[in-house]
Amino acid sequence: MKMQVKFNFRLWFNHKIEIYLLIFGLFLMLFVFASVQFQNKEVIEPFEFPEMNVPEGNELNNSRIELGRRLFYDPILSLDSTISCSSCHKQAFAFADNLSVTPGVSAKLGNRNAPTLTNVGYNPTYLFDGFLTTLEKQALVPIEEHAEMNFNIVEVAKRMKRNKKYIRDAYRAYKREPDAYVITRALASFQRSLISKNSKFDQYTKGKIKLTPSEKNGMRLFYDVLYCAQCHSGYNFTNFSVQNNGLKSTSSDSGRMRVTRLEIDRDLYKVPTLRNIALTAPYMHDGRLQTLREVILHYQKGGESHINKSKVIEPFKLNESELDDLISFLNTLTDSEFIQNKKYGNPFRN
Ligand code: HEC
Ligand code: HEC
Repeated sequence: MKMQVKFNFRLWFNHKIEIYLLIFGLFLMLFVFASVQFQNKEVIEPFEFPEMNVPEGNELNNSRIELGRRLFYDPILSLDSTISCSSCHKQAFAFADNLSVTPGVSAKLGNRNAPTLTNVGYNPTYLFDGFLTTLEKQALVPIEEHAEMNFNIVEVAKRMKRNKKYIRDAYRAYKREPDAYVITRALASFQRSLISKNSKFDQYTKGKIKLTPSEKNGMRLFYDVLYCAQCHSGYNFTNFSVQNNGLKSTSSDSGRMRVTRLEIDRDLYKVPTLRNIALTAPYMHDGRLQTLREVILHYQKGGESHINKSKVIEPFKLNESELDDLISFLNTLTDSEFIQNKKYGNPFRN
């Protein structure tokens, strides 16, 4: 035993320098590791989603969501039973469509592009005009709109009453038979369940994955160099305001002015979310821009001149690789789980 201690002591003494060097080396490595970690720590915190505003009496529960889901996918909501909400709001495109304008009943065309329903329950206002304030009120619009379902909600209720399952499910969800009350509330409930918060970018903010250098540079351009986040801000990449982003009007649409009749509202449109933006081409209220590249080039030239154009929109210059980087960043906002989630899928196909 004694020998052993002595031996160890000698070993220590003879190799003192090496051991000091070893300890020093370990500290150095620890320091370098810690500082790299520090540099990698991002300014961006994971997004906090607020509590959703749900009108009294329509608190979310499964029977309401499920009834709404069925209605959402059911063409009986349209005059000739050919068009459902999902004809224009398709899960594969994050509940938008890949056409500029999707035809409604009898192939009639409206003048606006079907927007995504990603996190739609958080919107304080609906439609591009930013006017209607609840999903319950909004649900009436497509049912009655000529270029959409061209029907009447009272008639929809009559059709539902011919179906035992609808009657049973309406009682289960709202303790009453199918009527306008049930239809609008159930549709709103299903749409409030359409939550997307697990994009590649969300995973990155939670430290679960890394971004490529190109995506990271795009993030820097988006948040720090350009002005995008002045409007497309926060957890849903919108400040929910209405703005003119430099798009000239066409004869068929005057934006928010359509409802307020005020010149200051001419061609103002709601700032849309950028979540799942890679899936929802074409872009803008009338789908006039086909690709994200075209969108960025639109902003790069400072938009077109317009008396109501936001002061924030100004020209800038990106080189080709920066343009690609910004697109790469926008692509990280895609949530593939959202478009594959069976809970949101067509219940008639199961
Ligand atoms: C023929 C295509 C079509 C059909 C069918 C359709 N929509 Fe839409 N939807 C649109 C278009 C176009 C807009 C934008 C209209 C506008 O802003 O004036 C829109 C807007 C919306 C919005 C507003 C989203 C927002 O963020 O402001 C909601 C919610 C919505 N639709 C839900 C539904 C529901 C529920 C149904 C079925 C009852 C439905 N839609 C049927 C094309 C359609
Ligand atoms: C002044 C507010 C504002 C700023 C700043 C802004 N946008 Fe927008 N953005 C809007 C509005 C409003 C729309 C919708 C216009 C419409 O529908 O006609 C929009 C639409 C878009 C769309 C199409 C969305 C869709 O679903 O069709 C993309 C993509 C987009 N913006 C990206 C950007 C990028 C990238 C930047 C920075 C270079 C940026 N925006 C800066 C207000 C803004």
